[in-house]
Amino acid sequence: MNILVVGGGGREHAIIKSLKKSPRVTQIYAAPGNGGMAADAICTGIGAKDLDAITAFAQENAIDFAVVAPDDPLVLGAVDRLEAVGIPCFGPNKAAAILEGSKVFSKDLMKKYHIPTAQYQVFDDMDRALEYLKTAPIPTVVKADGLALGKGVTVAMTRQEAEDAVRACMEDKVFGESGSHIVIEEFLTGPEVSVLSFTDGKVVVPMVSSMDHKRIGDGDTGPNTGGMGTVAPNPYYTDEIAQVCMDTIFLPTMRAMNAEGRTFKGCLYFGLMLTEKGPKVIEYNCRFGDPETQVVLPLLESDLLTIMEATANGTLAETEVKFRDQHACCLVLASEGYPKKYETGFPITIPEDLDAQVFVAGAKLEDGVLKTSGGRVLGVTALGNTLKEAIDKAYQEGARVTFQNAYCRKDIGARALRAEEEVK
Ligand code: AMP
Ligand code: GLY
Repeated sequence: MNILVVGGGGREHAIIKSLKKSPRVTQIYAAPGNGGMAADAICTGIGAKDLDAITAFAQENAIDFAVVAPDDPLVLGAVDRLEAVGIPCFGPNKAAAILEGSKVFSKDLMKKYHIPTAQYQVFDDMDRALEYLKTAPIPTVVKADGLALGKGVTVAMTRQEAEDAVRACMEDKVFGESGSHIVIEEFLTGPEVSVLSFTDGKVVVPMVSSMDHKRIGDGDTGPNTGGMGTVAPNPYYTDEIAQVCMDTIFLPTMRAMNAEGRTFKGCLYFGLMLTEKGPKVIEYNCRFGDPETQVVLPLLESDLLTIMEATANGTLAETEVKFRDQHACCLVLASEGYPKKYETGFPITIPEDLDAQVFVAGAKLEDGVLKTSGGRVLGVTALGNTLKEAIDKAYQEGARVTFQNAYCRKDIGARALRAEEEVK
């Protein structure tokens, strides 16, 4: 089969490497792809949001199945476009992708169907939002309604910070139209867990849980990034909590989307916070997480293509979804300076005998040499029989992947190791 994967980051590289293991896959194309994937897929260079070009490419190149990985094309309706020309897809259609595309939609859905989440208010008028903030409990959380390149959330520790965030969204429009509606919500505390799941609208099959490390600095300090590393499974996510999540969050969300006439098919990502009052939804994503995918898919034992097809044709209940009883750690190597200013163009060396998988995010091929081209350059994923083994190996092998100005956190997985002790 010919497969098209829309997207061009580390997540897409992990999806491609996983799909490649399927005996039924003959050729994988990526749109746009990146220089680091060239050994695994034909990179078309077509922009992930260029739906006309993607649809035309898929028709001209006899694509049998498409995987739309990033949020933007999903929210724009890439799946609707591809399905309209007869190409089956992995991913939600536009009507369902709104679950990530609009925070107002997702909050209102949770309220209507009694799915546990932070209490909130919606504002489309700045003066009313500022008035509300005068007496709101602090800390508080300000969220732009739309996608905002993953940067629309401010956890405000002071009233001033909250006001600044409201002005930035609604007056300065730093997130464009995405900030004309905002959600101001209750500040929750507790360990965070990412649970990616497969769903066909009939059943929800959770994947192995994971833990992201969003801040740039050790000890979770400094600004937020696109993710500096992940481990799986997440030790906070016990079997007991998993059952509570299935009953109070996962199935109710799937049923709520069905009831709204917005059946969700694909990967439904639950960003959860395990509060003292039980697990609550922090955010939904309508796609695989990055860099969660880089630890989750290497642990998948079953055939990814078969599972993806099952989400599209409604046969997930009869499809095997099995994960290895192991641990994974993904260490992200970034360009020094990220998420602010950084230099690029440095050659990357990856040893042939590396005992880990490399998922490339920000790199390009120049005269056959792989060079850095982005903030987060690549992820190194190692597996182990224990969490400690996986972490040690990710650091040991990660140190063998080199480029000038490389930066990584030194404590990926440290919190999870401590949690293993706590939950024992
Ligand atoms: P983002 O990935 O940009 O959506 O960032 C969301 C992050 O903000 C989450 O991972 C949480 O750490 C934090 N966050 C979002 N909502 C809340 C909330 N209600 N209470 C506390 N922290 C939150
Ligand atoms: N790792 C969080 C996300 O993909 O949004």
